[in-house]
Amino acid sequence: MTEIKNSTCVRLTDENSIPAVIREMTLQEKASLVAGVYPFETYPVERLGIPKLTLADGHNGINVFHLLCNYRGHAAARLGMDYSGRDAWRRLCSGNGRGVKALFDNTDDDPVIKEQRPGLEDFYGVISEILRREMPAGLPSCLPPGLVMGATWDPELVAEVGKVIALESRACNMDIMLGPNVNIHRDPLCGRVFESYSEDPFLAARIAVGYIQGVQNEGVAAVVKHYAANNQEHERRGVNARITDRALREIYFPAFKAAVVEAGCWMVMSAYNGVNGKPCAMHPWLLKDVLRGEWGFRGFVVSDWGAAYDRVEALRSGNDLEMPGPVNVQVTVDAVKNGELDEATLDECVGNILGVMLKLPVFKGAARHELDRDYSINMARRLAVEGTVLLKNDNETLPLEKGRLAVFGDNAREPISTGGGSAGVISPYVVSVLDGLSARYGEENVSFGKITDDTDLVVMCVGVESHEGADRPSMDLNADDLLMIKNTARQCRQKGKKSVVVLNVCGPVEMAGWVDEVDAVVLPWLGGMEMGNAVADVLSGDATPSGKLPLTFPKRYKDVPAYLNFPGEFGEVIYGEGIYVGYRYYDTVEIEPMYEFGYGLSYTTFELSNLKLGSETLEIKRDGNLGVSVDIENTGRRYGKEVVQLYLRDVESTIRKPAKELKGFRKVALEPGGKQTVSFNIDPKALAHYDAKLGGWRVEPGAFQIMVGVSSRDIRLTAEFIATGPNPYGTDEGDAASADLGW
Ligand code: GLC
Repeated sequence: MTEIKNSTCVRLTDENSIPAVIREMTLQEKASLVAGVYPFETYPVERLGIPKLTLADGHNGINVFHLLCNYRGHAAARLGMDYSGRDAWRRLCSGNGRGVKALFDNTDDDPVIKEQRPGLEDFYGVISEILRREMPAGLPSCLPPGLVMGATWDPELVAEVGKVIALESRACNMDIMLGPNVNIHRDPLCGRVFESYSEDPFLAARIAVGYIQGVQNEGVAAVVKHYAANNQEHERRGVNARITDRALREIYFPAFKAAVVEAGCWMVMSAYNGVNGKPCAMHPWLLKDVLRGEWGFRGFVVSDWGAAYDRVEALRSGNDLEMPGPVNVQVTVDAVKNGELDEATLDECVGNILGVMLKLPVFKGAARHELDRDYSINMARRLAVEGTVLLKNDNETLPLEKGRLAVFGDNAREPISTGGGSAGVISPYVVSVLDGLSARYGEENVSFGKITDDTDLVVMCVGVESHEGADRPSMDLNADDLLMIKNTARQCRQKGKKSVVVLNVCGPVEMAGWVDEVDAVVLPWLGGMEMGNAVADVLSGDATPSGKLPLTFPKRYKDVPAYLNFPGEFGEVIYGEGIYVGYRYYDTVEIEPMYEFGYGLSYTTFELSNLKLGSETLEIKRDGNLGVSVDIENTGRRYGKEVVQLYLRDVESTIRKPAKELKGFRKVALEPGGKQTVSFNIDPKALAHYDAKLGGWRVEPGAFQIMVGVSSRDIRLTAEFIATGPNPYGTDEGDAASADLGW
């Protein structure tokens, strides 16, 4: 028997209306709301004022394929047809986006469309009409992905990036943007390293907070993902990650906790993988005890697409919305009817979704944003410049303000703007390095593939892409690219020419085999739609390189801390390295990397001086804090930016700790001769470690060393202070008890 409720006076208006609205909803409506109606759309209940919500990726630009999945459903519904041409659809949505552009223009410029159109003229015609109506500003902008955001070390800049992505989302009538991806770079081969920020939890957290605030300040919901410990693509749907509590708390949780506690992120996405025996979407400890109980999360949890392997268990565990829709509606209805699922639990999930809905543009009747494309383009270029890392610059090879360039490498014409998968963005254009250099230096001064006597600089471009769903097999460059570098570098030596390699890569690559044969190396990573212009800005000196590595470039993959435990086997991956991820490992075991965490050169030089501590001691109590200041001066001849980095070392500790941990950073810009004092504040939490035996954070009193530098290994100044307070590991019972600060 179908419940019929047709109240006309109850409507979703504010938080107070939610209980009455839920009481008015039928079981079918509730089960539909928590299950989605299209792959990227939720179920509306117009009679109660519950609108549909439109979601899509992603972190660095709107993934038009996601919205097309909705438009396909809308078109099929309008034409009363059951379109299930999944294979054609998948083929349309793969590759270089030619199919999307053909759909936009309603042409047959794509073989899949051409092949499929006969008999489906109306269908493709309606989709084209919807596409043009829903995306009046045209295809979305592709900004550089998360790794480049991490490489800027500039949370304020990344907040502006978040704003651009929010505005691009609103231009497509979206309410929820499925990002940021904050998963820690446990291993450089993970296929999604390009998407997330860093190997370090402190840097990842600062960048995440900036980004999320930038997005949500525009009224769009950000979705911090993938909670938790989604650090590989191999067997991602179901691999069980075995991680110590300490590693979870000190390495894999901080960016999520900061997203919720500091940035007030409205949504969290549960990950495909499991953690310590339970899939994340069915993990009450993760989704209720920690996320809501400890961190006070009040938004709602959406599963990764297809990650709610047991729908009813997921609802019970606190996973509010399962995507993609529409799936498992009847499963949920039946579970309530047969008593397997308490309806109150379902009501709680519905309430969490409605609570966030009240904040979103669609609920507030906000008009679609009229996109200012230039704003997006300028931000794309600015982010690409700020995230570009100068790795090598012997004998001031760079910058070259003017001159004749000889460009080599297929990648110079075929730029990789971002990685593949949900973070893929089909943008109207991508500026190649060749085009960027020609625009900056003049077509007549840029040749391809040939060094002449009047060549001033040889530019070798190489690319390595990666994508969701697979991890990289190695850090190796493509064989052709490596051969091109070797051959071209040899020519340069024979002809006495300076050379630079441009790395359009998705993460750390093997460099030991060739780096000594070239004069300079510039790392724009996957540089978005404006990459070519950004590379030209940096090579010419129009912009100063100021990116810093957000993850270590190891000399060889075997040096990587997770090497023996990645990507696991037989459905299990053991995080045997514990908290020793990235530089925490290399610096503790003293393995020399190719380039260290926090490293990046500039076209000028900087000097740090005058390190001062506000006190010689720091009392370990809730409001304890220690002021630290240091002076930085631009001692070179050019304007430049530098990132002052502050690391802490526990000089003597009962619990083993890494050789250093990042606890502060600040990016400063200075003219030649310019000087600035940078201040930090160290509170007891910065000294703390997680003690799984005691079940909480603790600070052990004693000596701590402050290290201030411009990379994790280029430490310029140090100082020590004493932490004073109760000793959790002392013999005094009272001490041990009062050492628990309740964090
Ligand atoms: C994907 C990704 C996730 C994305 C979602 C929707 O599988 O893991 O990051 O947001 O599905 O596209």
